[in-house]
Amino acid sequence: MADTKATLTIGDATKDYDILDGSVGPQVIDVRKLYANTGMFTYDPGFTSTASCESNITYIDGDEGILLHRGYPIEQLAEQSSFMEVAYLLMNGDLPDKETLDKFTYTITRHTMVHEQLSTFYRGFRRDAHPMAILCGVVGALSSFYHDSTDINDPLQRTIASHRLIAKMPTIAAMAYKYSVGQPFLYPRNDLSYTGNFLRMTFGVPAEEYVVDPVVEAAMDKIFILHADHEQNASTSTVRLAGSSGANPFACIAAGIACLWGPAHGGANEAALNMLREIGTPDRIPEYIARAKNKDDPFRLMGFGHRVYKNFDPRAKVLSKAASEVLDKLGINDPVLDTARELEQIALNDPYFIEKKLYPNVDFYSGVILSAIGFPTEMFTVLFALARTVGWVAQWNEMISDPAQKIGRPRQLYTGPAQRDYVPVAQR
Ligand code: ACO
Repeated sequence: MADTKATLTIGDATKDYDILDGSVGPQVIDVRKLYANTGMFTYDPGFTSTASCESNITYIDGDEGILLHRGYPIEQLAEQSSFMEVAYLLMNGDLPDKETLDKFTYTITRHTMVHEQLSTFYRGFRRDAHPMAILCGVVGALSSFYHDSTDINDPLQRTIASHRLIAKMPTIAAMAYKYSVGQPFLYPRNDLSYTGNFLRMTFGVPAEEYVVDPVVEAAMDKIFILHADHEQNASTSTVRLAGSSGANPFACIAAGIACLWGPAHGGANEAALNMLREIGTPDRIPEYIARAKNKDDPFRLMGFGHRVYKNFDPRAKVLSKAASEVLDKLGINDPVLDTARELEQIALNDPYFIEKKLYPNVDFYSGVILSAIGFPTEMFTVLFALARTVGWVAQWNEMISDPAQKIGRPRQLYTGPAQRDYVPVAQR
Protein backbone atom coordinates (compact mmCIF):
# COMPACT_ATOMS: atom_id res chain seq x y z
CA MET A 1 0.00 0.00 0.00
CA ALA A 2 1.32 3.49 -0.91
CA ASP A 3 1.96 6.12 1.81
CA THR A 4 -0.09 8.74 0.01
CA LYS A 5 -3.87 8.52 -0.11
CA ALA A 6 -6.33 9.56 -2.76
CA THR A 7 -8.59 12.25 -1.32
CA LEU A 8 -12.09 12.59 -2.64
CA THR A 9 -13.88 15.87 -1.94
CA ILE A 10 -17.64 16.07 -2.35
CA GLY A 11 -18.97 19.45 -1.27
CA ASP A 12 -17.45 20.11 2.15
CA ALA A 13 -16.76 16.46 2.93
CA THR A 14 -13.43 14.80 2.18
CA LYS A 15 -12.53 11.17 2.49
CA ASP A 16 -9.22 9.38 1.99
CA TYR A 17 -8.89 6.20 -0.01
CA ASP A 18 -5.92 3.81 0.05
CA ILE A 19 -3.73 3.60 -3.01
CA LEU A 20 -2.57 0.06 -3.67
CA ASP A 21 0.71 -0.86 -5.36
CA GLY A 22 1.09 -3.68 -7.83
CA SER A 23 4.51 -5.23 -8.51
CA VAL A 24 4.65 -3.25 -11.79
CA GLY A 25 2.10 -1.09 -13.56
CA PRO A 26 -0.35 1.56 -12.44
CA GLN A 27 -1.39 1.94 -8.84
CA VAL A 28 -5.08 1.50 -8.06
CA ILE A 29 -7.35 3.51 -5.80
CA ASP A 30 -9.20 1.19 -3.45
CA VAL A 31 -12.81 2.40 -3.68
CA ARG A 32 -14.43 -0.60 -2.04
CA LYS A 33 -15.78 1.56 0.79
CA LEU A 34 -16.91 4.39 -1.49
CA TYR A 35 -20.61 3.51 -1.43
CA ALA A 36 -20.61 2.97 2.33
CA ASN A 37 -18.86 6.32 2.80
CA THR A 38 -20.67 8.48 0.26
CA GLY A 39 -23.72 6.61 -1.05
CA MET A 40 -22.24 7.00 -4.55
CA PHE A 41 -20.97 4.55 -7.12
CA THR A 42 -18.16 5.01 -9.64
CA TYR A 43 -19.27 5.11 -13.29
CA ASP A 44 -17.05 3.23 -15.75
CA PRO A 45 -18.93 1.49 -18.56
CA GLY A 46 -16.61 -0.92 -20.34
CA PHE A 47 -14.24 -0.91 -17.33
CA THR A 48 -11.79 1.47 -18.99
CA SER A 49 -10.33 2.56 -15.61
CA THR A 50 -11.38 -0.27 -13.34
CA ALA A 51 -9.27 -3.10 -11.92
CA SER A 52 -11.81 -5.85 -11.30
CA CYS A 53 -9.46 -8.12 -9.35
CA GLU A 54 -5.96 -8.71 -8.07
CA SER A 55 -3.98 -11.09 -10.27
CA ASN A 56 -0.39 -12.32 -10.57
CA ILE A 57 -0.70 -14.19 -13.85
CA THR A 58 -0.35 -11.77 -16.78
CA TYR A 59 0.89 -8.20 -17.07
CA ILE A 60 0.28 -5.84 -19.99
CA ASP A 61 1.76 -2.39 -20.54
CA GLY A 62 -0.34 -1.08 -23.41
CA ASP A 63 1.76 2.02 -24.03
CA GLU A 64 5.03 0.11 -24.28
CA GLY A 65 3.58 -2.95 -26.02
CA ILE A 66 4.68 -5.30 -23.23
CA LEU A 67 3.00 -8.62 -22.45
CA LEU A 68 4.41 -10.80 -19.67
CA HIS A 69 3.16 -14.17 -18.47
CA ARG A 70 4.27 -14.70 -14.86
CA GLY A 71 7.02 -12.18 -15.70
CA TYR A 72 8.26 -13.79 -18.92
CA PRO A 73 8.01 -11.69 -22.13
CA ILE A 74 5.68 -13.14 -24.74
CA GLU A 75 8.38 -12.82 -27.44
CA GLN A 76 10.70 -15.15 -25.49
CA LEU A 77 7.93 -17.64 -24.80
CA ALA A 78 6.80 -17.62 -28.44
CA GLU A 79 10.34 -18.20 -29.71
CA GLN A 80 11.70 -20.62 -27.11
CA SER A 81 8.90 -22.29 -25.19
CA SER A 82 6.08 -24.71 -26.03
CA PHE A 83 2.35 -24.42 -25.48
CA MET A 84 2.42 -27.18 -22.85
CA GLU A 85 5.15 -25.36 -20.94
CA VAL A 86 3.27 -22.05 -21.14
CA ALA A 87 0.14 -23.84 -19.93
CA TYR A 88 2.04 -25.13 -16.92
CA LEU A 89 3.54 -21.70 -16.31
CA LEU A 90 0.19 -19.92 -16.41
CA MET A 91 -1.44 -22.44 -14.12
CA ASN A 92 1.38 -22.90 -11.62
CA GLY A 93 3.37 -19.66 -11.59
CA ASP A 94 6.86 -20.88 -12.57
CA LEU A 95 8.50 -22.67 -15.46
CA PRO A 96 8.65 -26.43 -14.84
CA ASP A 97 11.87 -28.46 -14.79
CA LYS A 98 12.11 -31.25 -17.38
CA GLU A 99 10.63 -33.95 -15.13
CA THR A 100 7.71 -31.76 -14.05
CA LEU A 101 6.98 -30.73 -17.64
CA ASP A 102 7.03 -34.35 -18.79
CA LYS A 103 4.65 -35.28 -15.98
CA PHE A 104 2.30 -32.40 -16.80
CA THR A 105 2.35 -33.27 -20.52
CA TYR A 106 1.68 -36.93 -19.64
CA THR A 107 -1.31 -35.93 -17.51
CA ILE A 108 -2.79 -33.69 -20.20
CA THR A 109 -2.21 -36.36 -22.85
CA ARG A 110 -4.06 -38.95 -20.72
CA HIS A 111 -7.15 -36.73 -20.50
CA THR A 112 -7.61 -36.04 -24.23
CA MET A 113 -10.37 -38.60 -24.88
CA VAL A 114 -13.94 -37.45 -24.40
CA HIS A 115 -16.75 -39.61 -23.02
CA GLU A 116 -17.98 -41.73 -25.93
CA GLN A 117 -21.55 -40.53 -25.38
CA LEU A 118 -20.42 -36.95 -25.95
CA SER A 119 -19.88 -37.72 -29.62
CA THR A 120 -23.63 -38.29 -30.04
CA PHE A 121 -24.17 -34.65 -29.07
CA TYR A 122 -22.68 -33.53 -32.35
CA ARG A 123 -25.43 -35.19 -34.38
CA GLY A 124 -27.93 -32.79 -32.84
CA PHE A 125 -26.26 -29.88 -34.60
CA ARG A 126 -26.95 -28.90 -38.19
CA ARG A 127 -24.05 -29.74 -40.49
CA ASP A 128 -23.65 -26.05 -41.34
CA ALA A 129 -23.60 -24.97 -37.68
CA HIS A 130 -20.80 -22.55 -36.83
CA PRO A 131 -18.14 -24.54 -34.93
CA MET A 132 -18.19 -21.90 -32.17
CA ALA A 133 -21.88 -22.71 -31.64
CA ILE A 134 -20.93 -26.38 -31.32
CA LEU A 135 -18.01 -25.59 -29.01
CA CYS A 136 -20.20 -23.52 -26.71
CA GLY A 137 -22.79 -26.29 -26.44
CA VAL A 138 -20.42 -29.23 -26.10
CA VAL A 139 -18.11 -27.60 -23.54
CA GLY A 140 -21.15 -26.59 -21.47
CA ALA A 141 -22.31 -30.20 -21.68
CA LEU A 142 -19.04 -31.47 -20.17
CA SER A 143 -20.43 -30.64 -16.73
CA SER A 144 -23.05 -33.33 -17.26
CA PHE A 145 -20.30 -35.93 -17.86
CA TYR A 146 -17.65 -35.14 -15.28
CA HIS A 147 -19.53 -34.84 -11.99
CA ASP A 148 -16.42 -35.90 -10.10
CA SER A 149 -14.65 -32.62 -10.89
CA THR A 150 -17.30 -29.97 -10.35
CA ASP A 151 -16.83 -29.29 -6.63
CA ILE A 152 -15.12 -25.92 -6.87
CA ASN A 153 -14.16 -25.92 -3.19
CA ASP A 154 -11.94 -28.98 -3.61
CA PRO A 155 -8.53 -27.93 -5.04
CA LEU A 156 -7.91 -31.42 -6.43
CA GLN A 157 -11.22 -31.41 -8.31
CA ARG A 158 -10.42 -27.93 -9.63
CA THR A 159 -7.07 -29.18 -10.93
CA ILE A 160 -8.63 -32.25 -12.54
CA ALA A 161 -11.33 -30.11 -14.20
CA SER A 162 -8.63 -27.71 -15.47
CA HIS A 163 -6.57 -30.57 -16.91
CA ARG A 164 -9.66 -32.05 -18.50
CA LEU A 165 -10.61 -28.77 -20.14
CA ILE A 166 -7.11 -28.13 -21.53
CA ALA A 167 -6.81 -31.73 -22.73
CA LYS A 168 -10.27 -32.19 -24.24
CA MET A 169 -10.53 -28.87 -26.01
CA PRO A 170 -8.45 -29.98 -29.04
CA THR A 171 -10.53 -33.18 -29.30
CA ILE A 172 -13.80 -31.26 -29.10
CA ALA A 173 -12.58 -28.59 -31.56
CA ALA A 174 -11.36 -31.18 -34.06
CA MET A 175 -14.66 -33.06 -33.76
CA ALA A 176 -16.55 -29.83 -34.51
CA TYR A 177 -14.49 -29.49 -37.69
CA LYS A 178 -14.90 -33.13 -38.68
CA TYR A 179 -18.64 -32.91 -38.19
CA SER A 180 -18.89 -29.85 -40.44
CA VAL A 181 -17.06 -31.61 -43.30
CA GLY A 182 -18.83 -34.93 -42.82
CA GLN A 183 -15.74 -36.95 -41.96
CA PRO A 184 -15.42 -39.49 -39.12
CA PHE A 185 -14.09 -38.36 -35.77
CA LEU A 186 -10.54 -39.46 -35.01
CA TYR A 187 -9.53 -40.55 -31.53
CA PRO A 188 -6.52 -38.81 -29.97
CA ARG A 189 -3.11 -40.48 -30.16
CA ASN A 190 -0.84 -40.40 -27.14
CA ASP A 191 2.44 -40.57 -29.05
CA LEU A 192 1.88 -37.16 -30.60
CA SER A 193 2.42 -33.72 -29.09
CA TYR A 194 -0.56 -31.69 -27.89
CA THR A 195 -0.47 -29.65 -31.09
CA GLY A 196 0.45 -32.53 -33.41
CA ASN A 197 -2.41 -34.56 -31.99
CA PHE A 198 -4.84 -31.73 -32.66
CA LEU A 199 -3.61 -31.38 -36.27
CA ARG A 200 -4.03 -35.10 -36.86
CA MET A 201 -7.52 -35.21 -35.32
CA THR A 202 -8.45 -32.26 -37.56
CA PHE A 203 -6.84 -33.08 -40.88
CA GLY A 204 -6.24 -36.83 -40.69
CA VAL A 205 -8.57 -39.49 -42.09
CA PRO A 206 -8.80 -43.15 -41.05
CA ALA A 207 -7.91 -44.30 -44.57
CA GLU A 208 -4.30 -43.18 -44.36
CA GLU A 209 -1.56 -42.32 -41.92
CA TYR A 210 -1.35 -38.60 -41.16
CA VAL A 211 2.18 -37.29 -40.89
CA VAL A 212 2.49 -34.16 -38.78
CA ASP A 213 4.46 -31.47 -40.66
CA PRO A 214 6.95 -30.00 -38.15
CA VAL A 215 6.65 -26.53 -39.79
CA VAL A 216 2.89 -26.54 -39.34
CA GLU A 217 3.18 -28.00 -35.83
CA ALA A 218 5.62 -25.28 -34.75
CA ALA A 219 3.52 -22.48 -36.29
CA MET A 220 0.36 -23.80 -34.64
CA ASP A 221 2.09 -24.14 -31.28
CA LYS A 222 3.29 -20.54 -31.55
CA ILE A 223 -0.23 -19.34 -32.31
CA PHE A 224 -1.49 -21.25 -29.27
CA ILE A 225 1.20 -19.63 -27.06
CA LEU A 226 0.32 -16.15 -28.34
CA HIS A 227 -3.36 -16.67 -27.50
CA ALA A 228 -2.93 -18.45 -24.16
CA ASP A 229 -3.83 -15.58 -21.83
CA HIS A 230 -4.36 -11.85 -21.90
CA GLU A 231 -5.12 -10.48 -18.46
CA GLN A 232 -8.70 -9.36 -17.75
CA ASN A 233 -10.04 -9.29 -21.34
CA ALA A 234 -13.78 -9.64 -22.03
CA SER A 235 -13.95 -13.44 -22.15
CA THR A 236 -11.67 -13.93 -19.13
CA SER A 237 -13.73 -11.44 -17.16
CA THR A 238 -16.81 -13.39 -18.26
CA VAL A 239 -15.28 -16.62 -16.95
CA ARG A 240 -14.41 -14.92 -13.66
CA LEU A 241 -17.87 -13.37 -13.33
CA ALA A 242 -19.60 -16.66 -14.08
CA GLY A 243 -17.25 -18.43 -11.66
CA SER A 244 -17.80 -15.87 -8.92
CA SER A 245 -21.30 -17.24 -8.38
CA GLY A 246 -19.88 -20.70 -7.74
CA ALA A 247 -20.82 -22.09 -11.18
CA ASN A 248 -18.90 -25.20 -12.22
CA PRO A 249 -15.75 -24.79 -14.36
CA PHE A 250 -17.19 -26.35 -17.53
CA ALA A 251 -20.14 -23.94 -17.47
CA CYS A 252 -17.77 -21.01 -16.82
CA ILE A 253 -15.54 -21.88 -19.78
CA ALA A 254 -18.64 -22.24 -21.99
CA ALA A 255 -19.55 -18.68 -20.94
CA GLY A 256 -16.04 -17.53 -21.90
CA ILE A 257 -16.39 -19.19 -25.30
CA ALA A 258 -19.68 -17.35 -25.90
CA CYS A 259 -18.03 -14.01 -25.12
CA LEU A 260 -14.96 -14.75 -27.20
CA TRP A 261 -17.11 -15.42 -30.27
CA GLY A 262 -17.99 -11.72 -30.75
CA PRO A 263 -16.25 -9.90 -33.63
CA ALA A 264 -14.91 -7.20 -31.29
CA HIS A 265 -13.00 -9.95 -29.44
CA GLY A 266 -11.93 -13.42 -30.63
CA GLY A 267 -14.25 -13.37 -33.64
CA ALA A 268 -12.01 -10.69 -35.13
CA ASN A 269 -9.55 -13.22 -36.60
CA GLU A 270 -12.30 -14.70 -38.78
CA ALA A 271 -13.60 -11.22 -39.63
CA ALA A 272 -10.08 -9.96 -40.44
CA LEU A 273 -9.36 -12.68 -42.99
CA ASN A 274 -12.83 -12.33 -44.52
CA MET A 275 -12.14 -8.61 -44.83
CA LEU A 276 -8.73 -9.18 -46.44
CA ARG A 277 -10.28 -11.61 -48.91
CA GLU A 278 -13.08 -9.15 -49.65
CA ILE A 279 -10.53 -6.40 -50.33
CA GLY A 280 -8.82 -8.90 -52.62
CA THR A 281 -6.16 -6.71 -54.22
CA PRO A 282 -4.06 -3.84 -52.82
CA ASP A 283 -5.64 -1.30 -55.26
CA ARG A 284 -8.95 -1.60 -53.37
CA ILE A 285 -7.43 -0.74 -49.98
CA PRO A 286 -8.14 3.04 -50.14
CA GLU A 287 -11.86 2.31 -50.50
CA TYR A 288 -11.84 0.29 -47.27
CA ILE A 289 -9.67 2.81 -45.42
CA ALA A 290 -12.19 5.49 -46.37
CA ARG A 291 -15.05 3.32 -45.07
CA ALA A 292 -13.24 2.68 -41.78
CA LYS A 293 -12.85 6.44 -41.30
CA ASN A 294 -16.45 7.26 -42.21
CA LYS A 295 -18.45 7.83 -38.98
CA ASP A 296 -21.72 6.95 -40.79
CA ASP A 297 -20.39 3.56 -41.85
CA PRO A 298 -20.25 0.87 -39.11
CA PHE A 299 -17.34 -0.80 -40.94
CA ARG A 300 -14.09 -1.10 -38.96
CA LEU A 301 -10.74 -2.41 -40.06
CA MET A 302 -10.89 -5.84 -38.46
CA GLY A 303 -7.66 -6.85 -36.74
CA PHE A 304 -6.92 -3.20 -35.97
CA GLY A 305 -7.17 -1.42 -32.65
CA HIS A 306 -7.04 -2.65 -29.10
CA ARG A 307 -8.45 -1.47 -25.81
CA VAL A 308 -5.09 -1.72 -24.07
CA TYR A 309 -2.31 -1.63 -26.69
CA LYS A 310 -1.84 1.90 -27.95
CA ASN A 311 1.55 1.58 -29.70
CA PHE A 312 1.66 -1.96 -30.94
CA ASP A 313 0.44 -5.42 -30.01
CA PRO A 314 3.59 -7.51 -29.29
CA ARG A 315 1.73 -10.64 -30.39
CA ALA A 316 1.04 -9.09 -33.80
CA LYS A 317 4.77 -8.40 -34.25
CA VAL A 318 5.62 -12.04 -33.62
CA LEU A 319 2.87 -13.21 -35.95
CA SER A 320 3.70 -10.77 -38.73
CA LYS A 321 7.19 -12.33 -38.92
CA ALA A 322 5.83 -15.86 -38.52
CA ALA A 323 3.31 -15.35 -41.36
CA SER A 324 6.09 -14.75 -43.91
CA GLU A 325 8.19 -17.63 -42.55
CA VAL A 326 5.35 -20.14 -42.57
CA LEU A 327 4.11 -19.25 -46.04
CA ASP A 328 7.70 -19.41 -47.34
CA LYS A 329 8.38 -22.77 -45.72
CA LEU A 330 5.09 -24.19 -46.97
CA GLY A 331 5.74 -22.75 -50.43
CA ILE A 332 2.43 -20.90 -50.42
CA ASN A 333 2.06 -17.62 -52.28
CA ASP A 334 -1.15 -16.16 -50.90
CA PRO A 335 -2.04 -12.68 -52.23
CA VAL A 336 -3.91 -12.11 -48.97
CA LEU A 337 -0.53 -11.65 -47.22
CA ASP A 338 0.41 -8.93 -49.73
CA THR A 339 -2.93 -7.23 -49.13
CA ALA A 340 -2.38 -7.45 -45.37
CA ARG A 341 1.12 -5.95 -45.57
CA GLU A 342 -0.03 -3.14 -47.85
CA LEU A 343 -3.08 -2.40 -45.71
CA GLU A 344 -0.91 -2.29 -42.59
CA GLN A 345 1.49 0.21 -44.21
CA ILE A 346 -1.27 2.47 -45.54
CA ALA A 347 -3.16 2.46 -42.23
CA LEU A 348 -0.02 3.06 -40.16
CA ASN A 349 0.71 6.20 -42.20
CA ASP A 350 -2.84 7.53 -42.19
CA PRO A 351 -3.49 10.43 -39.77
CA TYR A 352 -6.82 8.90 -38.63
CA PHE A 353 -5.15 5.68 -37.47
CA ILE A 354 -2.10 7.52 -36.08
CA GLU A 355 -4.24 9.91 -34.05
CA LYS A 356 -6.44 7.15 -32.65
CA LYS A 357 -3.42 4.91 -32.02
CA LEU A 358 -4.82 2.05 -34.05
CA TYR A 359 -2.32 -0.72 -34.84
CA PRO A 360 -2.66 -4.30 -36.06
CA ASN A 361 -3.62 -6.66 -33.25
CA VAL A 362 -2.96 -10.39 -32.87
CA ASP A 363 -5.89 -11.23 -35.13
CA PHE A 364 -4.56 -9.37 -38.12
CA TYR A 365 -1.91 -11.93 -39.13
CA SER A 366 -3.07 -15.10 -37.37
CA GLY A 367 -5.75 -15.71 -40.02
CA VAL A 368 -3.19 -15.61 -42.83
CA ILE A 369 -1.20 -18.41 -41.14
CA LEU A 370 -4.25 -20.46 -40.19
CA SER A 371 -5.57 -20.23 -43.72
CA ALA A 372 -2.20 -21.37 -45.11
CA ILE A 373 -2.31 -24.36 -42.75
CA GLY A 374 -5.71 -25.26 -44.20
CA PHE A 375 -8.24 -24.14 -41.60
CA PRO A 376 -11.51 -22.66 -42.85
CA THR A 377 -12.19 -19.19 -41.42
CA GLU A 378 -15.02 -20.50 -39.20
CA MET A 379 -12.42 -22.48 -37.25
CA PHE A 380 -10.21 -19.50 -36.42
CA THR A 381 -12.06 -18.43 -33.29
CA VAL A 382 -12.30 -22.07 -32.19
CA LEU A 383 -8.49 -22.24 -32.23
CA PHE A 384 -8.37 -19.06 -30.18
CA ALA A 385 -10.78 -20.61 -27.65
CA LEU A 386 -8.69 -23.79 -27.51
CA ALA A 387 -5.57 -21.81 -26.58
CA ARG A 388 -7.32 -19.32 -24.28
CA THR A 389 -8.79 -22.18 -22.25
CA VAL A 390 -5.42 -22.32 -20.49
CA GLY A 391 -5.69 -18.67 -19.44
CA TRP A 392 -9.33 -19.06 -18.51
CA VAL A 393 -8.69 -21.98 -16.16
CA ALA A 394 -5.62 -20.30 -14.64
CA GLN A 395 -7.60 -17.13 -13.95
CA TRP A 396 -10.63 -19.07 -12.72
CA ASN A 397 -8.46 -21.04 -10.27
CA GLU A 398 -6.82 -17.85 -9.06
CA MET A 399 -10.21 -16.27 -8.47
CA ILE A 400 -11.62 -19.23 -6.55
CA SER A 401 -8.51 -19.32 -4.33
CA ASP A 402 -8.64 -15.57 -3.58
CA PRO A 403 -10.27 -14.97 -0.18
CA ALA A 404 -11.08 -11.36 -1.18
CA GLN A 405 -13.19 -12.48 -4.12
CA LYS A 406 -16.92 -11.94 -3.81
CA ILE A 407 -19.67 -12.60 -6.28
CA GLY A 408 -19.21 -10.13 -9.16
CA ARG A 409 -22.09 -7.71 -8.91
CA PRO A 410 -21.66 -4.30 -10.60
CA ARG A 411 -24.10 -1.46 -9.93
CA GLN A 412 -25.52 1.10 -12.36
CA LEU A 413 -26.44 4.69 -13.06
CA TYR A 414 -30.22 4.32 -13.27
CA THR A 415 -31.89 6.61 -15.84
CA GLY A 416 -35.34 4.94 -16.13
CA PRO A 417 -38.64 6.24 -14.73
CA ALA A 418 -38.85 7.01 -11.02
CA GLN A 419 -41.49 5.08 -9.05
CA ARG A 420 -44.99 5.48 -10.51
CA ASP A 421 -48.34 3.81 -9.90
CA TYR A 422 -49.75 1.05 -12.03
CA VAL A 423 -52.73 2.11 -14.16
CA PRO A 424 -55.20 -0.64 -15.22
CA VAL A 425 -55.18 -1.19 -18.98
CA ALA A 426 -58.75 0.14 -19.47
CA GLN A 427 -57.76 3.48 -17.98
CA ARG A 428 -54.58 4.04 -20.06
N1 ACO B 1 -11.22 0.66 -37.53
C1 ACO B 1 -11.59 1.96 -37.59
N2 ACO B 1 -11.76 2.75 -36.51
C2 ACO B 1 -11.54 2.19 -35.30
C3 ACO B 1 -11.14 0.86 -35.15
C4 ACO B 1 -10.98 0.08 -36.32
N3 ACO B 1 -10.59 -1.20 -36.23
N4 ACO B 1 -11.00 0.58 -33.84
C5 ACO B 1 -11.29 1.70 -33.17
N5 ACO B 1 -11.63 2.69 -34.06
C6 ACO B 1 -11.94 4.08 -33.73
C7 ACO B 1 -13.35 4.18 -33.17
O1 ACO B 1 -14.28 4.50 -34.20
C8 ACO B 1 -13.21 5.31 -32.17
O2 ACO B 1 -13.25 6.54 -32.87
P1 ACO B 1 -13.91 7.85 -32.16
O3 ACO B 1 -13.04 8.14 -30.97
O4 ACO B 1 -13.85 8.87 -33.23
O5 ACO B 1 -15.29 7.45 -31.79
C9 ACO B 1 -11.80 5.15 -31.63
O6 ACO B 1 -11.07 4.47 -32.66
C10 ACO B 1 -11.73 4.35 -30.34
O7 ACO B 1 -12.44 3.13 -30.52
P2 ACO B 1 -13.26 2.39 -29.38
O8 ACO B 1 -14.22 1.44 -30.00
O9 ACO B 1 -13.79 3.40 -28.43
O10 ACO B 1 -12.08 1.61 -28.66
P3 ACO B 1 -12.25 0.36 -27.72
O11 ACO B 1 -11.05 0.31 -26.88
O12 ACO B 1 -13.57 0.38 -27.01
O13 ACO B 1 -12.30 -0.88 -28.73
C11 ACO B 1 -11.68 -2.67 -30.14
C12 ACO B 1 -11.24 -1.72 -29.00
C13 ACO B 1 -13.01 -3.34 -29.80
C14 ACO B 1 -10.63 -3.77 -30.28
C15 ACO B 1 -11.78 -1.85 -31.46
O14 ACO B 1 -10.54 -1.27 -31.79
C16 ACO B 1 -12.30 -2.70 -32.62
O15 ACO B 1 -13.52 -2.87 -32.78
N6 ACO B 1 -11.38 -3.27 -33.47
C17 ACO B 1 -11.77 -4.14 -34.55
C18 ACO B 1 -12.08 -5.52 -34.02
C19 ACO B 1 -10.84 -6.28 -33.59
O16 ACO B 1 -9.84 -6.36 -34.31
N7 ACO B 1 -10.93 -6.90 -32.38
C20 ACO B 1 -9.85 -7.73 -31.85
C21 ACO B 1 -9.34 -7.19 -30.56
S1 ACO B 1 -7.96 -8.12 -30.02
C22 ACO B 1 -8.58 -9.53 -29.37
O17 ACO B 1 -9.68 -9.63 -28.93
C23 ACO B 1 -7.72 -10.66 -29.38
